[in-house]
Amino acid sequence: MTPRWIARIGLTLCAAALALQASAQDFPSKPITMVMPYAPGGPGDVITRVFAGAMQKPLGQQIVVDNPAGASGSIGTARVARARPDGYTLLMIHVSHATNQAMYKSLPYHPVDDFEPIGRATSGPMLIAARNGFPAKNLNEFVAYAKANAPKISLAHAGVGSASHLCGLMLMNALGVKFNEIPYKGTGPALNDLLGGQVDLLCDQTSGTVPSIKAGKIQAYAAAGRARIPSLPDMPAIAEAGVQGMDINISFGLYAPKGTPKPVLDKLSAALQTAVQDPEVRSRLEGMGISAVPVELARPEALRAHLKNEIDTLGGLLVKAGVKPE
Ligand code: MLT
Repeated sequence: MTPRWIARIGLTLCAAALALQASAQDFPSKPITMVMPYAPGGPGDVITRVFAGAMQKPLGQQIVVDNPAGASGSIGTARVARARPDGYTLLMIHVSHATNQAMYKSLPYHPVDDFEPIGRATSGPMLIAARNGFPAKNLNEFVAYAKANAPKISLAHAGVGSASHLCGLMLMNALGVKFNEIPYKGTGPALNDLLGGQVDLLCDQTSGTVPSIKAGKIQAYAAAGRARIPSLPDMPAIAEAGVQGMDINISFGLYAPKGTPKPVLDKLSAALQTAVQDPEVRSRLEGMGISAVPVELARPEALRAHLKNEIDTLGGLLVKAGVKPE
């Protein structure tokens, strides 16, 4: 390659970087896409729409939610990894951003190296739900029936490494059983089949299930942890039935493609911080049994630390549980 060519390429790259920097000044000047890589109607979709709505105000720009679902969220996540790093394509995701690295042999992105963290958004518990008519009236009957009939029981989840899969796995480990697993593109469609009686069990986040539980359309046996869920005070925690080893909490966070200019990341993080402090956002989330994070966690460094912790702890848990990478 001649020195002239090298100079030309260098100039082109500088021009591109300068263009990105220049556009950072008047960001956002067009609608933003917030990718939620799980099916519409599920907990992730509900949460993403709350934050898309709340962040429009401080950013002064429309935010559109897009749900390219499948492969435990890795299809939509890959789309954001490939997107132009200008702040107009964002990713809202949870634990599967950490577990997918251990669950997919040829993941077309790296969860840390290909993304800029913007900040954490929510934190919330999970619960164990069943279709109406499932032959157990309470938690103790559920534990006894599950231990005696596990191979006949179907467990829905949103794909390997998803929150509902991790929760289901912890439940099977804690009871020492193996249910018949049925994967979906999200717990939105899984809940539809639970409502219809096509599947028996679903471990899900409260944001997806609380309305159906309160309407008596599905049964809920327990909070998937040591503590009860404030918005479902009469439902025991699974530890109250003497079942140990289950304690799972799901946190969603917002990311941008690697290389997104710092001024743009700062504006997005500031808008996220405004959203987590917004009383309307906080009360809507509380109504779903989840919480907006404290404002100091709606920052890049807090999400970076959270992701690292999940990568260090959960990937290994799945492999130890014998879950084979796809
Ligand atoms: C969803 O939004 O469908 C869930 O968050 C998927 C999951 O269980 O991880």
